[in-house]
Amino acid sequence: MKLIAPSVLSANFADLRTDLEMINRSDADWLHVDVMDGVFVPNISFGFPLMEPMRKYCTKPLDVHLMIVHPEKYVERFCDAGAWSVGFHLEATDDPEPILDLIRAKGVRTCLTINPDIAVERLVKYLDKVDMVLLMSVFAGFGGQKFIPETMDKIRFIRQEIDRRRLNTLIEIDGGVGVQNAHELFEAGADVLVAGTAVFGAPDPEEAIRIMKR
Ligand code: DX5
Ligand code: ZN
Repeated sequence: MKLIAPSVLSANFADLRTDLEMINRSDADWLHVDVMDGVFVPNISFGFPLMEPMRKYCTKPLDVHLMIVHPEKYVERFCDAGAWSVGFHLEATDDPEPILDLIRAKGVRTCLTINPDIAVERLVKYLDKVDMVLLMSVFAGFGGQKFIPETMDKIRFIRQEIDRRRLNTLIEIDGGVGVQNAHELFEAGADVLVAGTAVFGAPDPEEAIRIMKR
């Protein structure tokens, strides 16, 4: 699959509706929603209050990426707030399985995420238990960082594992993605590319999305 999920983190919050309407018009597939708690990552973004306008004005599925400690406390509320998928970090919990169950019980798609310093092998045993895995290609916390090239081999490794076991699990890549590397990332086996700066910082965001998709 070749999906693009612009990250709302780089949108203009003073005029969010205009940016959401641009996303609605564009070829973007999902809206990526980055939630940061200032504890799991050294930055705070936003929480439930912004889910409301996003659900109201965005016609694309909301792909929620939780960068928070204790995801078990909040995943259900994000499901109720209109998430289409909810992802949390493997390294934020001792046991992801009951948290995945909470999300699944709400009829919402599940995603497990790892930061670049977490061994990609740790994801393998969950590949048949989630709808998607998200490999961070920068350290979670901030938009506008440089893509970590070692991510390429991790994508190929997970792709091989998914194909060998004939799973439908999607691979999402997040951080430092743009028109310069989108093609290569899809080629390596990524299904979904998150792009913040590369979309909202582009002179023509809709064109940037189009270029990344082809
Ligand atoms: C980083 C977030 C990313 C971020 C990507 O912690 O998870 O989704 O918004 O931003 P860019 O595309 O600017 O690297
Ligand atoms: Zn993200």
